[in-house]
Amino acid sequence: MTNMAAAVDGEVDIAYVREVLDKYQDARGAVIPILQKVQTHYGYLPRAALEMISHTLRMPLAHLVGVASFYAQFRMTPRGKYMMKICCGTACHVKGSAKLVEKTAELLDVNHGQTTRDKLFTMERVACIGACSLAPVITVNDEAVGYLDMEGIEDIIHKLRDENAIAPK
Ligand code: FES
Repeated sequence: MTNMAAAVDGEVDIAYVREVLDKYQDARGAVIPILQKVQTHYGYLPRAALEMISHTLRMPLAHLVGVASFYAQFRMTPRGKYMMKICCGTACHVKGSAKLVEKTAELLDVNHGQTTRDKLFTMERVACIGACSLAPVITVNDEAVGYLDMEGIEDIIHKLRDENAIAPK
């Protein structure tokens, strides 16, 4: 009988992983759909979830981590509330995306793929997002913002920080 009690990975309740595994049990070939479902649920692949999947599918953890690392769609760390994707495709590069990357990294104090300590922002450099006429362009949680300059990126970050600021007591 399956133990449906919630297992906890730090703050992450991994009971959902058990539900997914119950559906795919003994289906080693289903590793990608399992990882996709788990990531959709948590926003990333918690370590405890990977351990549970590894154990259930009898697949070495290192192999599972290798599979997850191979595909760009999978994240091993939690993402921030706002995913800032800075396009570094050719059109955006020509219009100065490297400076936007530099400025964003400086304002957030993170590098590519990292999340700010307050878990508000994750920054990523990405290939062309198909909005070249707006270059240079970034997306904030899939909403495109074009013709961006240094002031523009600063305004976006300040505005989002203000909106999420905890009111002083
Ligand atoms: S190169 Fe940036 S949107 Fe195409």
